Amino acid sequence: MRFIESIIEMQKIAFDARVEGKIIGLVPTMGYLHEGHLSLIKKAKKDCDVIVMCIFVNPLQFGVDEDYNIYPRDLARDIQLAEEAGVNYIFHPTVAEMYPKGYSTFVNVENLMEVLCGVQRPGHFRGVATVVLKLLNIIFPHKAYFGQKDAQQVIIIGRMVRDLNISVKIITISTKRDLDGVAISSRNIHLTKEERKQATCLYKSLKSAKQMILHGERQAEAIRNGMAGEIEKNNLAKIDYIEIVNVDTLDSVDLIKGTILIALAVKFGKTRVIDNLIMET
Ligand code: PAJ
Repeated sequence: MRFIESIIEMQKIAFDARVEGKIIGLVPTMGYLHEGHLSLIKKAKKDCDVIVMCIFVNPLQFGVDEDYNIYPRDLARDIQLAEEAGVNYIFHPTVAEMYPKGYSTFVNVENLMEVLCGVQRPGHFRGVATVVLKLLNIIFPHKAYFGQKDAQQVIIIGRMVRDLNISVKIITISTKRDLDGVAISSRNIHLTKEERKQATCLYKSLKSAKQMILHGERQAEAIRNGMAGEIEKNNLAKIDYIEIVNVDTLDSVDLIKGTILIALAVKFGKTRVIDNLIMET
C-alpha cells in the first residue's frame, strides 16, 4: 500500500492505472476508520482492481461552531486497517494542498442541500459536494463508494454526478450497525455511556415506522409522531428532525407513496446522531 499526499502524484498514478486498463474504485472518508468504512472497501475490492481510499477531514464541510477540531483522528491506526483491508493507495492531502490560498470554486446542488441535515448545518453539503468533485477529478475512478448511513449525502452526490455528466458510477452500501442497532459512526466516540445506550432509540423508531407502514399506515404525520414518541422516552435525546421525504427530490410527503426516505437526526449533548431507512411502498 502506498501513502500519497500530493494531488499531482495521485493524479498521475490514477491516470497510469486507467491507461493500463485497471478498474479504479474510490472510497472517500474522513478517517477514524470503522466497520462502516471497511464495508465500503470490501465491496470496492470485489468490483475493482485498484482501490484508492481518501482520508481527509474536510474543513469546508464543518460549520464554524462544529466539531472540526475535535473530529476524531488516528492516522496510524487507519493506515494499518486500510492495509489489512487491501487498499492500494491512501490519498491524504493537506488542507493547503486541497484549498490553496485564493481557492474560490464551490459546488451547490440546489434544493437538495437546504433540507434535512442542511437546515442545522448550512454549508455542510456544499463542502461535501465540492470535496467529492475534487476527489473525482483527482482520481477519476470508475466507481465511487458511499454509505447509505449518510443518505442525503449520497443522494446529493448522485445528483451532482448526473447533472454535471461525471463519468463515474456511484455505489451505495447499506448501513453497518452495532449489535444493538446503532449505526456505526466515527462521532459515536463522543457519546457518554448513557447517551450511547439511549442512541438505540433512532433505529428503534425507524423499525417502528416500518411496522406502521407495513400495517397500512399512510399518513406521514402519524408515523413521525410515533417515531417522536419512541425518541422522547429517552431523557438525553433531543430531536433535531424527523422527516419523511421523496427519495429523489427530498420533498416532504404527507402521504406515503412510492419510494420514501425516513430520516432523522437526534442530539445527545453536543453529539448529533443520524439514521435513516429507505422503503418502497
Ligand atoms: P465519513 O463520515 O468518514 O464517511 C465515509 C463514508 O463511509 C461515507 O460514504 C459514509 O456514508 C460511509 N459510512 C459511515 N458510516 C457508515 C456505516 N455505519 N455504514 C456504512 N457506511 C458508512 O461521509 C464522509 O466521511 C464525508 O462527508 C466525505 C464523503 C468523505 C466527504 O468529505
